[in-house]
Amino acid sequence: MASALVTVLVLAIFCHNVAEGYFPPAARLGNGAQAAPLLPAAAREFLEAHNQARAAVGVGPLKWSEQLANATSLLARFQRNNMNCQFANLTNHKYGANQLWSTGGAVTPRMAVDTWVREKNFYNYAANSCAPNHRCGVYTQVVWKNSSELGCAQATCKGPNLNTLTICFYNPPGNYVGERPY
Ligand SMILES: *[C@@H]1O[C@H](CO)[C@@H](O)[C@H](O)[C@H]1NC(C)=O
Ligand SMILES: *[C@@H]1O[C@H](CO)[C@@H](O)[C@H](O)[C@H]1NC(C)=O
Ligand SMILES: *[C@@H]1O[C@H](CO)[C@@H](O)[C@H](O)[C@H]1NC(C)=O
Repeated sequence: MASALVTVLVLAIFCHNVAEGYFPPAARLGNGAQAAPLLPAAAREFLEAHNQARAAVGVGPLKWSEQLANATSLLARFQRNNMNCQFANLTNHKYGANQLWSTGGAVTPRMAVDTWVREKNFYNYAANSCAPNHRCGVYTQVVWKNSSELGCAQATCKGPNLNTLTICFYNPPGNYVGERPY
C-alpha cells in the first residue's frame, strides 16, 4: 500500500508553566450560541478521528471551531508559501497544537490523526511517561480532557516528493507538564 511509503514526523507543543500556577489563556471564543454548521468533509474526518480516540479512553468529544480552523488555514498557507511546508514555529503559542510533516504521498486527515494516536502505544498512563524516542505529546493532546475545541488544516508542497503539513489547534491547550490528559 502506498501509505506504507509515507514518512512522517510529529511535533506537539508543551505548556511548561503549570508549576508556577500558570492558568491557560481564557477560552472566550464566543462559540456558545453558534448554530452547528454543516462541516466540510475534511473537518468531519479530523473531528471523528479525534473523538474516536477520546471515546476510547472515556473522554468527551471535541467540537469544531471555525476560528481555530481559520487560524490553522492561515498558518498552513504561510508555511506552504514561505517555508516549503516545514513545521511551524509555535513556541509560546496560545493554543495547543499538533503538527505532522509527511512526505512521499498524500495524507488524509484520518491518516494524520491516526499517526498521532499511534503514540498511545508508547504512553504509560500510570507513570504519565513516554517511551524513549517517542512523542506521546501528540497523543496526549488528542485526548486531553480539558481541550474542548478543534480546528485543523493541511497544506501540500510539490517538490521531488509530495510534502504535506497537517496542523491542528486545540483550545484550551493541553499538555501541561506534570498533569495527566484525563
Ligand atoms: C473563517 O473564515 C471564513 C472565510 O474566510 C470567514 O467567512 C469566517 O467569518 C471566519 N470565521 C471566524 C470565526 O473567524
Ligand atoms: C521560535 O520562536 C521563538 C519565539 O517566538 C524563538 O525564541 C525561537 O528561536 C524560534 N525557534 C526557531 C527554530 O526559529
Ligand atoms: C483542567 O481545568 C481545570 C480548571 O479549568 C484545572 O483545575 C485542571 O488542572 C485542568 N486539568 C488538566 C488535566 O488540564
